[in-house]
Amino acid sequence: MSAAEIKRAWDLLEETAREYKPEWKDSILEHAKVVHDAGLFLAGLFPGNNSIDLRIIALGAILHDVGRSRAQRVVEHGVRSGEIIREQGFPEEAARIGETHIGVGITRAEAQALDLPDRDFVPVTPEERIVCYVDNLLYYIPGEDRHELRDTEVVVDRFTRELGDTYGRRAREFMEGVEKEIGAEGFSRFREYVKELNKKLYGTGSGHSST
Ligand SMILES: [Fe+2]
Repeated sequence: MSAAEIKRAWDLLEETAREYKPEWKDSILEHAKVVHDAGLFLAGLFPGNNSIDLRIIALGAILHDVGRSRAQRVVEHGVRSGEIIREQGFPEEAARIGETHIGVGITRAEAQALDLPDRDFVPVTPEERIVCYVDNLLYYIPGEDRHELRDTEVVVDRFTRELGDTYGRRAREFMEGVEKEIGAEGFSRFREYVKELNKKLYGTGSGHSST
């Protein structure tokens, strides 16, 4: 993994966030950092993880939300992230991570109905699924100005409430698909990791104890 390329991605995110919404900058950077760290950890738990491209996960995780800066609607920010990632000369696979991280993906029929480009935006590769999975777990708690990783039940509840039963079922299938793939032991290691990460995220600046 080239350190210069990763730094270029962080710089792009920071610069874009600063221009777009200075008051959100730290929050956007922290969000990307957690998705990046937890994504790389999760990748290590996948069977056959030697074939997973950590460089692509890192770049995709850092830049998956960069398109918020030019999205007119929230639902199109993945497409815009893909655009920016390509324009800036990062790999196509990283652009696809940006495009496919919305919810648990957008089918071609849904894309047409939403007036998005006429193709599908469904996470398929392990790299795409990993970033999408972790991004779904991560919640921002505005009152406390901090992030926290939750679990699949919370994600399914949220999508069911916001988008209906069918999408809720799809969300469950997607989230549990990843969990099944890493196996019971992998999943328990991931939950341990999440617990530790949440403790760290809880500590900074919130005034709460981390116990
Ligand atoms: Fe996003």
